[in-house]
Amino acid sequence: MEHLASSTWSDVDRTQHSSQIIDYLDLLRSQPPFQRMKERTFEWLLETDPEQVLDVGCGTGADVIDLAKRLKGSDTAQVVGVDRSQDLVSEARSRADAADLPVPVEFQTADATSLDFPDATFDAVRTDRVLQHLDHPDQGLHEMIRVTRPGGRVVISDVDHGGLMVDCTRPMLMQRIHHFVETALTHPWIGRRLPVMFQDAGLSDLRVDVQVAYLSFEFITHMVGLSEVMTAMTEAGVFTKHEADAFAEDMESRGTSGRWYAGIPVFVVHGRTAA
Ligand SMILES: C[S@@+](CC[C@H](N)C(=O)[O-])C[C@H]1O[C@@H](n2cnc3c(N)ncnc32)[C@H](O)[C@@H]1O
Repeated sequence: MEHLASSTWSDVDRTQHSSQIIDYLDLLRSQPPFQRMKERTFEWLLETDPEQVLDVGCGTGADVIDLAKRLKGSDTAQVVGVDRSQDLVSEARSRADAADLPVPVEFQTADATSLDFPDATFDAVRTDRVLQHLDHPDQGLHEMIRVTRPGGRVVISDVDHGGLMVDCTRPMLMQRIHHFVETALTHPWIGRRLPVMFQDAGLSDLRVDVQVAYLSFEFITHMVGLSEVMTAMTEAGVFTKHEADAFAEDMESRGTSGRWYAGIPVFVVHGRTAA
């Protein structure tokens, strides 16, 4: 469950599997539904031609690079990415160096809940699939708002793991797996919480886009590490070996025959700070 667990994402460097983590982030980014939701964040973020843009929890820097290619190149335009992981910040720097970008980009190692920028530094601030892993997501949002200039834009995208749906022959067993997977996340239901978090934080021009992202059998197997989860659940006595084998066989047969559907809601929420 490494690619899903908050314990992985809150300290990527400790895992010593940064290259696998990077491959996973690239794989997720290549999935059309996730790409569409990223596009939505860019559309809302760049609506009024910001010059100073921040991506919090920027991972490999791929979104920072994408944003830099879309910014109108004025002398002062800049995109900044921050991430807690030094390994990911190094990866982001080398990707940006190789990208020949029209505006400067900068990366820093920093914690989302304690950003090292003065108040009102940025015109637009985003984060994508980070808040679900923070101990205090409200503090993360508060920091994003603090570093955004009056009237600037805050855009957050995150998944709601509580809405995961997988068509299967044994729904009661699926519910148990679902519950087990949710316990690996610090805030599995963050997606649905975002609109009220924005409201409570005093943001205006609230916009919410929710789409169900299709998850292929191959992707969900990789993301959740299904066989690893089944083994852990069998060892924990949640499943008998017989139940686990029958469930895995059903999933495998659906996945390989194409009789497969799984999806998860992805939220994108936009707000503006007080002018
Ligand atoms: C699921 S990845 C998403 C990365 C990137 N936003 C993307 O869309 O590819 C979560 C990212 O949040 C970073 N992260 C986790 N906790 C953090 C924190 N407290 N402060 C800053 N970054 C954090 C991780 O290092 C990782 O890069």
